[in-house]
Amino acid sequence: MTEAGFTPRVFSGIQPSGNLHLGNYLGALKRFADAQNQGIQSIYCMVDLHAVTVWQDPAELRHSTRELAAGFIASGLDPAKSILFNQSQVAEHSQLAWVFNCVARMGWMQRMTQFKDKAGKNAQNASLGLFAYPALMAADILAYHATHVPVGEDQKQHLELTRDIAAKFNNDFGVDFFPITEPVIEGTGTRVMSLRDGSKKMSKSDPSDMSRINLTDDADTIARKIRKAKTDPEPLPSEVKGLEERPEARNLVNIYAALADMSVDQVMAEAGGKAFSEFKPMLADLAVEKLAPISGEMSRLMQDVSEIDRILGNGADRARAIAAPILRQTYEIMGMVGPREV
Ligand code: TYM
Repeated sequence: MTEAGFTPRVFSGIQPSGNLHLGNYLGALKRFADAQNQGIQSIYCMVDLHAVTVWQDPAELRHSTRELAAGFIASGLDPAKSILFNQSQVAEHSQLAWVFNCVARMGWMQRMTQFKDKAGKNAQNASLGLFAYPALMAADILAYHATHVPVGEDQKQHLELTRDIAAKFNNDFGVDFFPITEPVIEGTGTRVMSLRDGSKKMSKSDPSDMSRINLTDDADTIARKIRKAKTDPEPLPSEVKGLEERPEARNLVNIYAALADMSVDQVMAEAGGKAFSEFKPMLADLAVEKLAPISGEMSRLMQDVSEIDRILGNGADRARAIAAPILRQTYEIMGMVGPREV
């Protein structure tokens, strides 16, 4: 139980919009298995309704959703222990999102930096869904009364909004119904940067494929991308402090630490003072060792999409069984007439 009396429950989501990359793996997927293995009830969602806030090719969306499910399983998530499903199969997400559209304030949404980044200069032409995106995200989490949400650093502001929405709903109706969710943003992998520019995060939408390592890249491609990663001419410093002001070097050290389950201090003890001509092959070997089995398992799983669809359908049934009573109670609190909880 949390202090406020909620049973610990983990929820997180990833968009099935293609190019699942090392940032998604280190910032999210790799950490998801930890919660599952600690025996905490864990719910993981392929957020297809979020993906369509920008236009998606239907055939590609279908493929990416299944490939993402394969990525979850290949990263150690066991569909018998964790609940894995795609968002559109559980209508409660959209229904609760509407309620939260009515709770969230325009001003709150206008402050969301991700909307500003994604909409760019042409915000008038962005979809209404892209603007309302964080309210759907709050619904994803709160439909399960999730208490902990593991994510990368870029989702922090959305999780703060989720807390604000929960608190406002509780306050508006004088209840203690929705938990105030804790973001879990821990470790060296929560902000993986582009391999071409240490000041930009690694992202699926970067036009340069050399900027990221995709989970579907083969061993040669992974090694080549690391060899070509931007660095400065100096060797690695001997201490962590020396990485300040050296974003590209810092990024490669962070990636090494996250892949090896080491602290940055431990990596520096092993690799401090080495030239990149020596460190990059070490990193490439490690990345191939850790990622090749995942991409191999993903392609194996993708040979049987009907099995993936069955897993997602089964996960959706289990997810709905949790979310449906929470939505009914939400409606009840708000005064909507309908069948009562028995
Ligand atoms: P998405 O699909 O952009 O990313 C999925 C997860 O990967 C993390 N991530 C990164 N971590 C470290 N370094 C990076 N360069 C990097 N890029 C991405 C993200 O932080 C995220 O954890 N809005 C969410 C999806 C979502 C969600 C939710 C998450 C919808 N509903 C409910 C948690 C709970 C998103 O677009 O993530």
